[in-house]
Formats: sequence, structure tokens, C-alpha cells
Amino acid sequence: MALRRGRATSRRAGETRECQGEMAPATVWFCLCLLLPSATEAGLYSTSDQVISLSPGNVESVLVNSSAAIIAEFYASWCGYCITFSPIYKRLARDIREWKPAVNLAAVDCAAAENIKICTNNKITSYPTIKFFHAYSMADSKGQLLKGFPRDVRLLRHTIIDILEGHEEPWPPACPPLEPTSQAEIDSFLETNNVEHLALIFEDASSYVGREVTLDLLQFENIAVRRVLSTEEALVTKLGVTQFPSCYLYYPGGNFTRLQVNIEARTFYSYTLQRLPGVVRSGKPPPPNTGVPNNSTEEPWRPFNRSRVYMADLESTLHYSLRVELAAHTVIRRQALVSLKKYISVLTKYFPGRPVVMNLLKAVNSWLQDQTGNEISYDALREILDNSAQSPDTALPDGVRWVGCQGSQPHLRRYPCGVWTLFHVLTVQAKKIGGTDPKEVLSAMRNYVRYFFGCKPCAEHFENMASESLGEVNKFSSGVLWLWLRHNQVNSRIAGALSEDPNFPKIQWPSPEMCPSCHTVKANGEHWWNYEVVYPFLLSYFSRDRILTDYLEDESQVLAQQREKHASQQQAVEAQKHGQRKAREALDSMTHLPTQPTVQPEEEEEEEEEEEEEEEEEEGQEEGLQEETMADEEVEGGEGPAAVEMGGKTSEPTPWARAEMEVGKGRQRAPRRPSIVGMRMREDIVDLDSFVNQHFKAKALHLAAPSRVKQRTLQRKEEREPGPVFGLGMELDAGFGMVGLQPVDTDFEMDVAQERKKRELAGHYFGKELSHRGRWMSVLSIGFSKMDISLCVILYFLSTVCLLAVYLFLNNRRRIRRVKVALP
Ligand SMILES: Cc1cc2nc3c(=O)[nH]c(=O)nc-3n(C[C@H](O)[C@H](O)[C@H](O)COP(=O)(O)OP(=O)(O)OC[C@H]3O[C@@H](n4cnc5c(N)ncnc54)[C@H](O)[C@@H]3O)c2cc1C
Ligand SMILES: *[C@@H]1O[C@H](CO)[C@@H](O)[C@H](O)[C@H]1NC(C)=O
Ligand SMILES: *[C@@H]1O[C@H](CO)[C@@H](O)[C@H](O)[C@H]1NC(C)=O
Ligand SMILES: *[C@@H]1O[C@H](CO)[C@@H](O)[C@H](O)[C@H]1NC(C)=O
Ligand SMILES: *[C@@H]1O[C@H](CO)[C@@H](O)[C@H](O)[C@H]1NC(C)=O
Ligand SMILES: *[C@@H]1O[C@H](CO)[C@@H](O)[C@H](O)[C@H]1NC(C)=O
Repeated sequence: MALRRGRATSRRAGETRECQGEMAPATVWFCLCLLLPSATEAGLYSTSDQVISLSPGNVESVLVNSSAAIIAEFYASWCGYCITFSPIYKRLARDIREWKPAVNLAAVDCAAAENIKICTNNKITSYPTIKFFHAYSMADSKGQLLKGFPRDVRLLRHTIIDILEGHEEPWPPACPPLEPTSQAEIDSFLETNNVEHLALIFEDASSYVGREVTLDLLQFENIAVRRVLSTEEALVTKLGVTQFPSCYLYYPGGNFTRLQVNIEARTFYSYTLQRLPGVVRSGKPPPPNTGVPNNSTEEPWRPFNRSRVYMADLESTLHYSLRVELAAHTVIRRQALVSLKKYISVLTKYFPGRPVVMNLLKAVNSWLQDQTGNEISYDALREILDNSAQSPDTALPDGVRWVGCQGSQPHLRRYPCGVWTLFHVLTVQAKKIGGTDPKEVLSAMRNYVRYFFGCKPCAEHFENMASESLGEVNKFSSGVLWLWLRHNQVNSRIAGALSEDPNFPKIQWPSPEMCPSCHTVKANGEHWWNYEVVYPFLLSYFSRDRILTDYLEDESQVLAQQREKHASQQQAVEAQKHGQRKAREALDSMTHLPTQPTVQPEEEEEEEEEEEEEEEEEEGQEEGLQEETMADEEVEGGEGPAAVEMGGKTSEPTPWARAEMEVGKGRQRAPRRPSIVGMRMREDIVDLDSFVNQHFKAKALHLAAPSRVKQRTLQRKEEREPGPVFGLGMELDAGFGMVGLQPVDTDFEMDVAQERKKRELAGHYFGKELSHRGRWMSVLSIGFSKMDISLCVILYFLSTVCLLAVYLFLNNRRRIRRVKVALP
């Protein structure tokens, strides 16, 4: 009893301890990943394994005065036995992950130079050695040697229970009592404790099931589990127990019911007990018991069948992946580009989509395969994704509409859920359609995750798993199973994490309810997946003809929306053009200077020459460099002092940089007041080209422009590439899954969308209205808002006008002087 009460009161301490235990390695790992990518791969265990890797930095905090007992493996990474043992130890870690607050697993690589001191301190002479450290061990504790420990998960688990039972005081506070109980104790327990459920596991003295289930539930509230020996006659006869093991729920007043499970074994008891009404993971809010999650998301809840796949989720995933996640990469190059091509090609082959969507994927695929260069810009890809060419019957619905992947909160489930679903569907489709390479889909997905998946810790973990075992996949069937197993591995690792939706707890999937015969037990009572059943189950569950199309918009609706969007964009462009004309007129009247009459005729000539010049420019466009030198030459060729001066001015970076900074700031934090130059322009955005036609020596400007374009695009790349908001937001919660994913995403999506709208407008204006200048303008419009262009223009304009004025003024004075001199 004392122990029991002790357990209840000290649970907090246990939790905090666990958090520290998990947080420290996660943070350390995260930093290491950034600094020395190979550091975590040195030993036999990675961060994905739920084994704490000991190092001089954490050994004290893990082993000394810990509220959980610690099992520590001392190994050498070169030792063959250790290598063979490591998968067993990893499986053990997964198997008893729920026990962490009471007993946690650690490992230390004695072959690593920096760890030698840890190993000699512990008097390690052979590998692998396993030691048990009591909770609240002293700093000088050498641990307790586990002599001749078994090389088997089940027996190791039993060893751990034995040693825990022999644990001296102080008992690990999070560890529930493990000894058998009696009628008397139960009655007083129910009087003094306010738990909703008391589960009694009746078993033989030699059985470990009761104690295992007790530990499996130690992180859950509102339930207590005790073992009752078959020799406890009072209780056995009272409940009429005839089968051992069996599990009963016992209520105050002597009420009881037998727990219904498929098989009388540990996994089934634990699974069922963890899901009893009112039972919650400690520290988690209870899920609403309505079944329909709370209406805390902005969208109306769409009822769905939890054991089905929905096309709406798959299409939403494609939208998010292609229009949001990829958009974080302004330029996609080299390996990332190869990965993207492969990803799209796999989608084109195996995505079981509607004809419109398939047409779009095909269009994207053939466009991508035509790109032979080293890099593409996302904007160019986006044009294809949005079907800007308006090919008939081609569209990817814009926006997300989660159904089977709805979460009870806006930051739960959704996209990552969709990604998993998509992966499974693709592996199953690949199996059905066939092909030559059983790894095709998995490698494509692996690389997509590696280069583009916004959740970086997830990508790391996935990569760890892939590099460990993807090589074993040599058949389509093993590909399907591989992904299922790894997904379950992830589920096991992140069960109970903050990213878990309380309404959709992470389980070893499929659940016994969903597929009873997938689960079976070995003769010794260990859970065993029945692969012969699981495999056909997966094939059927993710098969194309079982995918539900509920909540999908009609193809015609999708196409109509696409058309509308297109039309409204064009309208917006028209409206903007109109605004620009006005602005131009306003500028005209403002900039009338005394010198105007002299300048005017010159300008008209220029305008006539324009067409030709632009054609020249189009040819020159592709070599920006060439263009630049041409500009220099022509300037040197002596267009007069004004031109020379202008050339000098353009190379002066300051005003430009300042304007750029202003514009950049304005884009991020909306209503920041721009500089004086920007102020006027912000209201009406000026079109570079027509402005030039009217006011400028077109040639000089056009020739100078490309170098600016280049400078600017480069700058953009540098600014954006290192850390898109998207990636960073998610990296922050390395150890805790993906909490925060969606909120960050949403902001990001908005940002991207806004910026994109601007760009699209610019692009359309140039592209459609001035189609004969297509190439030139499309280069200009990359990454530009008109704002930027107008800033550039007005700077040129003002400086030229000033210089012209000065020039003319000086010229006039000279002439006057000459006239004076000529006069007698
Ligand atoms: C590649 C990848 C790596 C990830 N790594 C991490 C990580 O390291 N840390 C982290 O916190 N989050 C990670 N996530 C996110 C996490 O796995 C979940 O996707 C997310 O928490 C949403 O969970 P969910 O409840 O919607 O179910 P999900 O796990 O997303 O599963 C989606 C659906 O697939 C089905 N399903 C579940 N298990 C299986 C299975 N084994 N086989 C087949 N179908 C199954 C179920 O119907 C489930 O609803 C990762 C996601 C991906 C795609
Ligand atoms: C061990 O931890 C407990 C609290 O968990 C603390 O009170 C105690 O002082 C610690 N002892 C040592 C030696 O650090
Ligand atoms: C016995 O249990 C049932 C539910 O299993 C409950 O409805 C009933 O009220 C309980 N009776 C007593 C006396 O506790
Ligand atoms: C969810 O609904 C319950 C009652 O239906 C309410 O008490 C609770 O505050 C709601 N939670 C949220 C997050 O809206
Ligand atoms: C949830 O709330 C949204 C708006 O807040 C509403 O449109 C929707 O109908 C609600 N859904 C349910 C199931 O109540
Ligand atoms: C959900 O789908 C399963 C499998 O197709 C089916 O057996 C079940 O009846 C469906 N449930 C509902 C509520 O439609």
C-alpha cells in the first residue's frame, strides 16, 4: 500500500525525470546533426532506437541519482557479438518503451576514445557487458553486473523484472508495485484510491504477464493493474476464474467483468486496457468521449470511416507537397532535382488518381524530364502545376481537404498522415502494376523525405531506418511489408509524444479490432505478426478500388475553379495595368522639367528603335555575362557624358541595397513604412517597360538591367535557402515529434501564397500582354514584384534626369560663353 501511494504522489517526479532523459539526447543529437553529421552514426545505436547513448557529457546526468533504474550496455562497435546483439537490444527498447519512467535503457560505445574513461571506471573488461544501475545511484556506483544475460527480448524482459523486484530502497518512484495482491489489499485499495479501473491479472506464479502489463500501463492514469496468483483462492473462487492467465476488471462493491481480448496474452491485455474509457496517458488531456473530436478546428468536421483510405487525403497531400513543401525551395538543383524527378515519375506511374490529376502529373513529369539542366526554379514548376497553359482536363485541386487525416487540433495529423498514406498506397500500387525495381517507390520516397520533407528530425529518423534495412527489400511484397514495419516502428517511438492526437493514439497497426487474424502469439506467449495475413490485408486496405472518393470536388468543379483562378488573375493584371497607366500619367506631370523640350524629340526617336533593340536583347538574354560586357563597351563607345555617368552610378550599390532592404522588410512585416523612394511607388506599381519607353534612353537602361537581375536573384537565393520557415519550425521540436508543424505551415503557406500572387501577377502581365517580349520579361519577372522594378526604374530615372539637366546646363553655359567670346 505504501508503495502504491508512493507511486501516485511521486509520479510527477518520474515524469520530469523522463522528460530530461528524453530531451537531453534529443537536443544533443540535434546540435550534433547540425555540426558533425557523422557523429551520431559512429556507434551501434542511433537516436531512433530509444536507447540513450552515453557519453562523457551525459553519463553523470543519466546514471547518477536518476529516478529511473538504468540498464546500461557496454559494447565495442567493432565487436561481432555486440553487433549481433544490437538488434535484440533495440527490439527490447521498443518492447519496453512504456516502462521508461521506471527503467530505461542506455548504451555506451567503449571503442570510442572519448568513452574509455566511462568504461574503465565501470571496470568493463569484455563486450558486451550489461549492468543495472539502481534508481538514485551514487556517483561512485559501479552498477550491478547482469551475468550471462539472455540474448532474447522476452528473457531479457523477464530478467529486468526480476532485478526490479529485487530493487532495494529507494524504489523507483514511477514503478508500480509488482508483487501479487490479495482480497484484503484490493478492498482497502479501492477505498483509498480513486482510480476508475482496477485490472486483476490471474496467473501462475511463474508467469510474467501480470507484471509486464502492470509496467506497460504505468504511464496511464485512471487504471491500476495487479497480478493475482492462481493460489489466491479467495479471489479465484469469488470471480470464478478458471483460465490462467486471464484478466478481470474489478469495481468497488465487488462488481467485476472479464476483459475481452482476442488472445490471452500481454500485448492484448495492454492494448485493451490502455483504451478503456477514462484511461489516459499521464499528462494528456482526456479525449472527448463523444467519438467525434471537439470542434476546435476551423473547418467543419467530416465524418469518416477510420478503416478506409480517402482520395481527398491523397490529393491534399499532393497539393501540400507540390505547392507548399516544394515552394520552400526557390531553386531545385542537382541531387534534389534528381529526387524530385524520380518522385514525380513514381507518382505518374503509380498514383491511383482521377484522370484530371493524372493528366497534370503527366504534364509535370514530361516537363521535368525535359529539363536537362542542373537546376530548375520552383516558379517554372509552379506554372506547370497550376496548368498555366490551360491544357484541357488537367488540374490538381488547389488547397487541402483532409478527411481520414483530420486531426482534432489544427496542428495534429494532416500532412504527415497523408504522406504515410500516400507512401503505402504507392508501394501497394507498384506491387500490383509491377515493374522492374522493387525498391523504386521506396527509394523515391526516401529521397523525397531526405531533400524536401519539412520535418527534419523525421527525415533523419527515416533515413536511419532506410539505410539500416532498405537494402533487404528485394521483392515488391517485401517493399510493402518494409514500409508497414517501419511505420509501426515510428508509431512505437512517438506513441505518447506531444504530436499524438489523443483521438488517434499511435498503435501497432492494424489494431486487433481492424484485423484480428493479423495478430497471433508464439508458443511462449510472445506477440507475433502473422505476415501471411498482414500482407494481403495491406494489399486490400490500400488498394486502388477501395479508396473512397467522399468529399472530393467534381472534376468539372475543379476545372472550373482553375479556369476562374486563371481568369481572375488576368483580370487583376488588367486592373493593375490600368492603375499603372494612371501612375505613369501622374509621374509624367510631376517630372516635367525645364529641359523637357530638348529631351522630348530624342525620346521619340528612341521609341522607334525599340523594337529592334528588344529583339537583340532577347538573343543576348541567355548570357547575362555577355550582356554586361556589351553594356560596358557601348557605354565606353561614347554615348556622351550622361551615359558614362549613368554607367558609373549603376555600379554604386548603396541606394539599391537600401531599397532592397526596405522592400524585403516590407514583404515580411506587412505595413512597414518604406523609404522615401518607395513611398510613392507603393501605391501604384509602375511597369518597367512602358515607363522606359516614355522617359528613358531605353538602350542604356535595358543593357544595364540584366546585371541587376542577376545580382538580385542571387541575393534572393542566399536569403531564402538556408532555413525556410517551414523547416526550422519543425526542427525545433526534435524530440517531440511534430508539434507546431501545422501552425508554422499555415503561416508559411500564406506567405508563399501572397508572394506568389505578386509574382504571378507580374509574370502574367509580362507574359500575356507583351508576349513578343516573352523571354526577356520572364527573366525579369523571376522573383520580382513590380514594386522592386519600379524602385529600380525610378532611381535610374531620377539620376538620369539630374545628370541630363546638369549636362544641358553646362552645355548651354559653354555655348553662351562661346557666343560671348565670339562677340566683339
Ligand atoms: C517519413 C515520416 C517520418 C516521420 N517521422 C516522425 C518522427 O520521427 N517523429 C514524429 O514525431 N513524427 C514523425 N512523423 C509523423 C508521424 O509519423 C505521424 O505521421 C503524425 O504524427 C500523424 O499521425 P497519425 O495519427 O495521423 O498517423 P500516421 O502515423 O501518420 O498514419 C497515418 C495512417 O496510416 C495508417 N497506419 C498507421 N500505422 C500504419 C502502418 N504501420 N502501416 C500502414 N498504415 C498505417 C493509419 O490508418 C493512420 O491513420 C513522420 C512522418 C513521416 C511521413
Ligand atoms: C538526488 O535527487 C533528489 C531529487 O530527485 C535530490 O533531492 C537529491 O539531493 C539528489 N542527490 C544528489 C546526491 O544529487
Ligand atoms: C457493476 O458494473 C456495471 C458496469 O459494468 C455498472 O453499470 C454497475 O452499476 C455496477 N454495479 C455496482 C453495484 O457497482
Ligand atoms: C471540448 O468539448 C468539451 C465539451 O464538449 C469542452 O468542455 C472543452 O472545453 C472543449 N475543448 C476545446 C479545446 O474546445
Ligand atoms: C465547427 O466549427 C465550424 C466553424 O467554427 C463550423 O462551421 C462547423 O460546422 C462546426 N462543426 C461541427 C461538427 O460542429
Ligand atoms: C468502415 O469500413 C469497414 C471496411 O470496409 C466496414 O466494414 C465498416 O462497416 C465501415 N464502417 C462504417 C461506419 O461505415
